[in-house]
Amino acid sequence: MQAVFDYLRQNQSRFVEQLCEYVRFPSVSAQPEHKQDLQVCAGWVLKHCQSIGLESRLCSTQGNPIIIAKTPAAKAPASQRPHFLIYGHYDVQPPEPFELWKSPPFEPRIEGRSLFARGASDNKGQNLAHFKAIEAYLKTGTELPCDITFIIEGEEEVGSSSLAAFLKKHRAELECDAIVISDTGMPTPKYPALTYALRGIAAFEITLHGPSRDLHSGIFGGTVDNPAMALSQLLGKLRDKNGRVAIPGFYDDVQPLSAYERKQFARLPFKAPDYQKFLGVPKLFGERGFTPLEQRSARPTLEINGLTSGYQGEGSKTIVPAWARAKITTRLVPNQNPARIIKLLQQHLKKLCPPTVRLEIKSGHGADPYLVSPTSPQAQAALRALKAAFGCEPVLLREGGSIPIVNDFKKILGADALLVGLALPDDNAHSPNEKFDLDCFAKGQLMSAHLWQELSRL
Ligand code: BES
Ligand code: MN
Repeated sequence: MQAVFDYLRQNQSRFVEQLCEYVRFPSVSAQPEHKQDLQVCAGWVLKHCQSIGLESRLCSTQGNPIIIAKTPAAKAPASQRPHFLIYGHYDVQPPEPFELWKSPPFEPRIEGRSLFARGASDNKGQNLAHFKAIEAYLKTGTELPCDITFIIEGEEEVGSSSLAAFLKKHRAELECDAIVISDTGMPTPKYPALTYALRGIAAFEITLHGPSRDLHSGIFGGTVDNPAMALSQLLGKLRDKNGRVAIPGFYDDVQPLSAYERKQFARLPFKAPDYQKFLGVPKLFGERGFTPLEQRSARPTLEINGLTSGYQGEGSKTIVPAWARAKITTRLVPNQNPARIIKLLQQHLKKLCPPTVRLEIKSGHGADPYLVSPTSPQAQAALRALKAAFGCEPVLLREGGSIPIVNDFKKILGADALLVGLALPDDNAHSPNEKFDLDCFAKGQLMSAHLWQELSRL
């Protein structure tokens, strides 16, 4: 193993250069104009896989391509060796608003130990850390104690709609003992973390249609309902004064937090005033009766992600808009079900909608919440690898974000996901000035190198 560690130490600057290459691709899966950039980025991943000695192929799908890359066949028969998948995604969230970036989102900039670019943390940097650990094994001729298959997709940020079908089709080849994913976070580098729960998600779009076209608000205003006003009123009714989602039945299936879990949450490093300052809000807000750490990871929410209507340009335009639209997501916790939540929401909105406008609801992607035992032998092995790499006692986390495919891994392949995230809370994922900490990058590589030893020993 010394050769692996030496290789990692000696090649850090090249690894950082390669990460810079990787983040230059504007692989924004939500925006159709970047379709080609996703293809090109997938091609880069494929070439990189081949260059480190993995048996790799690009698989086209209905959407963006998936890369499958395997460690070369070992001497021991495959049936006697454990097999692990490493999952990651090369697509990124939209970079807008551009004007808030200190440097362009797809032109990497290094300042101190931070590499700034869209995708640096979510998920290119985290994912590359695993590639580099495997590269170190392969290039130093150090025998891996297991077989490893990378599965890298390009639709995670839009709900992973092609991957489930792909898993079903290639089930035999992908049969494995566990899936390792670095696509979550840790509180600080002194608190490396194993995440044992993720929130699920249900996305939808509400449009209220009013007049058949924008109308002169002086000539017609006062005789027709204003869709923007009607939408505001409707949305205002979806949350009560205690910060709870005001949809009948919304909380019915929520599994309450155990006393043990609440105690674990209380142990995490967290200072509400610092958190408030960091987020730039005048005061924190959340569901009454829960701490901010609980609110943001173990309680369900409903958020308006976007709100559009009428004239948005400079100056004024006196109209009654023809329509108003809101993009909404709810984050779900065990045992809520996205399909049921969408249904409850549809029923409730129909009841609330006034007869003066027409309601249209489009449902988008959904994902079940995820919860796995933090005490399994595999989880313990992951904790040991984290400790070896970071030199600190790791913590157990529930995270608020979603990784839609983890439940499909469980359903289709029957394997648990080990979530060993390398992102820091101030990495600005999905925000302007996203960055990745280069120490987390290096320690993530070490963690991965240790992990295969720890997992294969079980
Ligand atoms: N890496 C995140 C998920 C994440 C972030 C989990 C932080 C835990 C902590 C992932 O890439 C992501 O952002 N997923 C989307 C999925 C959605 C678009 C279906 C999310 O959570 O918004
Ligand atoms: Mn991600």
